[in-house]
Amino acid sequence: MKEVVLQKFAEVFGDAEGAQVYFAPGRVNMIGEHTDYNGGHVFPCALTIGTYGVARKRQDRKLRFYSMNFKQLGVLESSLDELKPDPKADWTNYPKGVMWAFGEKGMQVPAGMDILLNGNIPNGSGLSSSASVEVLTGYILRDLFGFEVSNQELALIGQYSENHFNGVNCGIMDQFAIAMGKQGHAIFLDTADLSYEYAPIKLENAKIVIACSNKKRGLGDSKYNERRSECETALAQLQQVCQITSLGELTEEAFEQHKDAITDEVHRRRAKHAVYENQRTIQAVEALKANDIKRFGQLMNASHVSLRDDYEVTGKELDTLVEEAWKVDGVIGSRMTGAGFGGCTVSIVEDRAIDTFIVQVGAAYESRIGYAADFYVVESGDGPRRL
Ligand code: GLA
Repeated sequence: MKEVVLQKFAEVFGDAEGAQVYFAPGRVNMIGEHTDYNGGHVFPCALTIGTYGVARKRQDRKLRFYSMNFKQLGVLESSLDELKPDPKADWTNYPKGVMWAFGEKGMQVPAGMDILLNGNIPNGSGLSSSASVEVLTGYILRDLFGFEVSNQELALIGQYSENHFNGVNCGIMDQFAIAMGKQGHAIFLDTADLSYEYAPIKLENAKIVIACSNKKRGLGDSKYNERRSECETALAQLQQVCQITSLGELTEEAFEQHKDAITDEVHRRRAKHAVYENQRTIQAVEALKANDIKRFGQLMNASHVSLRDDYEVTGKELDTLVEEAWKVDGVIGSRMTGAGFGGCTVSIVEDRAIDTFIVQVGAAYESRIGYAADFYVVESGDGPRRL
């Protein structure tokens, strides 16, 4: 891939002299969905697929961008003096947002750049192609200009740019998983204080299979921000009757005891999901550590049901993929992953069942939904790096 992107860079920008090649992964969340903005736990892992980038400093303040994924857009030009969201909302809002965020944090980007990207994460699939671009950009800025920022800070800057430049009120999970990724491990992150632990993913005779519904999801126009404010309303009402700062502080029992303080039935279900999902995530990591993969799978399944019925972020495409997955002998667990409303499911599938899984779920999905899903057998990978 390194040669491919360098060659393309030379073709687009004249030559590739002095250009550096970088990579940042995508991520899949195993369990702990819609908990990261509720002070709960998440359990994502970085993948070996992600975004490749080639970057080179310029003498002036010009920014030239080219994406091999959006070839039709050609070279998009901008400048460090024009770092504001573009209403046309093309992909360059992600790197530009990160450059802007560096400035906001007191690190002014001193020179323009030529940047080429090529991602092999399906766009809009819920595998965090945008967070991957954000962390990649932060990594490039650090490497080219010597800013002193840790990987964890790169994650926070990425989230800051997504929140304040791109208008999506996302939590920290995606950028954290990408910036802190470690091969063979998922990250058990407590979003209340960013304490974390790497837990080995030991799947004997099984693999992680991602099924992409091919229903595109635009986070900005989705109901993501709405869910977030529903949780905030529920929290404010719970705070009238118990002393908590986030839903993640409640056990299931405490929630059941106080839930009537939430006056709206819909908000009550949203909060219930956040509380129970957080507890499921804690239990799932315990199960994994105890080598009880069967229990881990059951908790994944329960997570999907909760996201479908209480949080209502699945939709018929994701529900179909999961229902069909559950029918296959050798599927240990299956659930939607990411924000929902389209995007992907994640399943743990025994090696012997993977081919059947892809054929059977694929055929049933196509006949029920009318178009095909895509399947990826994935592996956990490392965080961002220079190649
Ligand atoms: C998106 C957001 C994350 C997280 C998930 C849902 O991926 O970017 O912060 O909230 O949705 O778990």
